[in-house]
Amino acid sequence: MPNSDFPTLEHLATAVILLDGESRIAYLNPAAEHLFGLSKTNLIAHPLQHAFTHTEQLFGTIQSALANRASHIEHELTLGTHALGNRLHLSCIATPLHLGRYAVLLEFHTIDRPLKLAREEQMLDQTQANRLLLRNLAHEIKNPLGGIRGAAQLLEQELEKPALREYTQVVIQEADRLRSLMEKLLTPQHAPHFSALNIHEVLERVRSVVLAELPEGLTIQRDYDLSLPDLHGDKEQLIQVVLNIVRNAAQAMKGKGQIVLRTRITRQVTLMKKLHRLAIAVQIIDNGPGIPGHLRDKIFYPLVSGRADGHGLGLTLAQDFVSQHQGSIEFESEPGRTCFTVMLPLPHLGK
Ligand SMILES: Nc1ncnc2c1ncn2[C@@H]1O[C@H](COP(=O)(O)OP(=O)(O)O)[C@@H](O)[C@H]1O
Ligand SMILES: [Mg+2]
Repeated sequence: MPNSDFPTLEHLATAVILLDGESRIAYLNPAAEHLFGLSKTNLIAHPLQHAFTHTEQLFGTIQSALANRASHIEHELTLGTHALGNRLHLSCIATPLHLGRYAVLLEFHTIDRPLKLAREEQMLDQTQANRLLLRNLAHEIKNPLGGIRGAAQLLEQELEKPALREYTQVVIQEADRLRSLMEKLLTPQHAPHFSALNIHEVLERVRSVVLAELPEGLTIQRDYDLSLPDLHGDKEQLIQVVLNIVRNAAQAMKGKGQIVLRTRITRQVTLMKKLHRLAIAVQIIDNGPGIPGHLRDKIFYPLVSGRADGHGLGLTLAQDFVSQHQGSIEFESEPGRTCFTVMLPLPHLGK
């Protein structure tokens, strides 16, 4: 019996799974049962996919350990379980073994929540610093641009050969193009106008705008919790937020696919370092190709775009607006499913 093979593993606080030579589960200790919400009896001799979803990273870690014949540590591993239906963020150590029917030892630790929060905070600070830098830069570029454009115009008036105007026109048009980009970077910072509003008014507006832009091939389903209370917000800003996310989804799917707009109530969430008793979660889910891997860490940064004609400002602006509502935007993405979640607190429905 595995239990008597490794009696000490039974009492360990670390979650441990042992795999056999076929990468099937040969043993898991009670800490692992607890962490993953699994029951040992149903899993012994089954492959890992029987218990887990999103196993690519885990298999990668196991492969590295076997290939190098040494322990391999993955500090940030995401693993889903069928039992809990959610994804866990873990660190995992895979160690190759040569112990009878045991081939690999897996140890799992949850990545502490404080660590995650600290990282989010750091990210927020860094994004804000980047924004400031960009705004200042945009401002510095915009001023001399006016001079360049004006000079080109004066020059054009003095030119005797009309054919040469082609060149001054290039200067003028490119200066205009740059100016409009700079203006987008210097997005209006006027104070938001808050009033009581229902989030579904926002979603319905976005839905009709996007369907009008792309009438064929796109469906936008509603999955609303109509019992949600009103929130205090700036309607135009929130429309812009959802519009930017939905347009990205529609563009990623080349106008053909399905988008789901979902609303739910959430309890006890920390947003911008503050614990809120109640918040509204708005999810925008598409079945497109997913966010390209190399962009995942930076899609909220200004000027980061995966599209040839993109400015990379849609999500930056969305994040700015949401943070003015003390909320947050997060996403999960894989081929076939991308989900953006916008959290908006309901502080007036407080304690
Ligand atoms: N739902 C999505 N599916 C796939 N990729 C996405 C999705 N949403 C955003 N992206 C990626 O993020 C990039 C940044 O989006 P955004 O900030 O709106 O700028 P832009 O739309 O101008 O490129 C997009 O270019 C795209 O590559
Ligand atoms: Mg966009």
